[in-house]
Amino acid sequence: MHGSLTVADALRAATERLRDASPTPRLDAEVLLAHVIGRERSWLLAHPEADVDGTAFEALIERRAIGEPVAYIRGFKEWHSLRIRTDPRALIPRPETELLADAAIAEIHDRLTSGPVVAWEVATGSGAVAIAIARQFTDAAASPELIATDISADALALAAENLAAHGVAGVVTLERADLLEPAGDTLPRPDVVVANLPYVASAEVDERRGSLGFEPRVALDGGPDGLDLLRRFLTELPEKAERGATAFLELGVGQVDTIRALAPAGASVTVVPDLAGLDRVVRLDLPD
Ligand SMILES: C[S@@+](CC[C@H](N)C(=O)[O-])C[C@H]1O[C@@H](n2cnc3c(N)ncnc32)[C@H](O)[C@@H]1O
Repeated sequence: MHGSLTVADALRAATERLRDASPTPRLDAEVLLAHVIGRERSWLLAHPEADVDGTAFEALIERRAIGEPVAYIRGFKEWHSLRIRTDPRALIPRPETELLADAAIAEIHDRLTSGPVVAWEVATGSGAVAIAIARQFTDAAASPELIATDISADALALAAENLAAHGVAGVVTLERADLLEPAGDTLPRPDVVVANLPYVASAEVDERRGSLGFEPRVALDGGPDGLDLLRRFLTELPEKAERGATAFLELGVGQVDTIRALAPAGASVTVVPDLAGLDRVVRLDLPD
């Protein structure tokens, strides 16, 4: 693929090279070629005979061929209409997590009509969810007090860069913390909590293949059955949150029933409906 070649030939060769490495070889090839030549994907499709320099493109394709995620190669992910900076310091935000952010935004809106709201994002990673929430309220008459935490200093450093890039650095308090530990102590107790905690079983993380192998273990590993963090979070929640607080949690496939069983006494658990019909986000309401 060295030297000058046409868009069509470059895409054909790259798609072939990625066939074993990616479930979406053609799409990845298009996204990476568009990235390397600084054009939109639509331009590529309209100019199959245009000449491109294959050398820089080939270097990116080789990174993808060993499993590196497209978002790490490009350095960003388009998520919830935001351009989130991504690198190996934190998990790449997933499409299903947009539902988690939207559910929290709707709840915060509702609660703001009757008074002040403290909202926490536990385990913020890249900061994507906290940023999506913050930006919904930047021009609103009322806005929540927003706190985002993570146990990983690396993730918090990336989150800080993302908050600044989206103009909400002064709007979200970033704090290094183990789950909800500082709530009610050094930080105010949450009325609303949103969390996408690690929920993959350790053995599965050990065997991870492809893109997952590039993401930090602390972002994925939920202990022997994947539920260590969720279990601890659910125990802490009634001690650390305000009475009547609402938590939104993203779960792994098939974990909803376990979460119902682990929910604090008196709490109600409802699944947040998802267009794809997958039970990935639950809402948990603590008693008043
Ligand atoms: C699945 S990632 C979610 C990142 C981001 N919120 C998202 O949805 O893209 C889980 C995050 O939990 C953090 N984490 C792991 N253990 C934690 C703990 N005990 N307390 C707080 N955060 C923790 C990891 O550093 C990682 O950033």
